[in-house]
Amino acid sequence: MNYIQADSLLTSLAPPGSAFVEHSRVVAEVATKIASALAEGRDGIDIEQIRVNALLHDLGRARTHGNYHGWVGYAMLRHRGFADAGRGCITHWLRGLTIDEVLTMSGARPKFIKRVFEELDLPRMRVEDIVISVADFSVAHTTIVSLEARAEDLGLRYGNSAWLARNAELAGEHRSRIERWSGRAFTQIIPEASRGAGHIVVPDFIKNKS
Ligand SMILES: [Fe+2]
Repeated sequence: MNYIQADSLLTSLAPPGSAFVEHSRVVAEVATKIASALAEGRDGIDIEQIRVNALLHDLGRARTHGNYHGWVGYAMLRHRGFADAGRGCITHWLRGLTIDEVLTMSGARPKFIKRVFEELDLPRMRVEDIVISVADFSVAHTTIVSLEARAEDLGLRYGNSAWLARNAELAGEHRSRIERWSGRAFTQIIPEASRGAGHIVVPDFIKNKS
């Protein structure tokens, strides 16, 4: 599946006016820039595959905004014969956590989580998973900010939890890996990622809810 096909699939499955579609496009833009920076010094970076995975990472939100939207998105793509394009749905959710960490912090059913780990060969994170992890953690709604600002924003919205803290920590480790691999500071690749939480623009419909 190429990016244009992925975008048509996303718009055809998302309910009209879904905010996650624009969020996903920004995440895909950020992921593309990171992937391009990595591709300068490294073979085997499939930029198109990374763009597609990044664009579709939140597809499950077409059905549910619950904790399992990652799994739902992956299952929607696998059902259509595009399991490879759905890896980002799972890895932006589980982000390289070990199976024990997932079970302790999420309360998910062990049998289900075991199956997910086996099917996607987790917790091993591929380069594309690392890129999507950082790209997604850099985008609050549609605003690109630092990982720290994004964690602060999520903490304010959903409360600080062990899950969030560990995810923020892993996203930070992934950012360091990208810096090591590319030989560049992350803010040289994505200058907007130096911005603080004050830059985040909250869409009206979210503001109006609270
Ligand atoms: Fe996202």
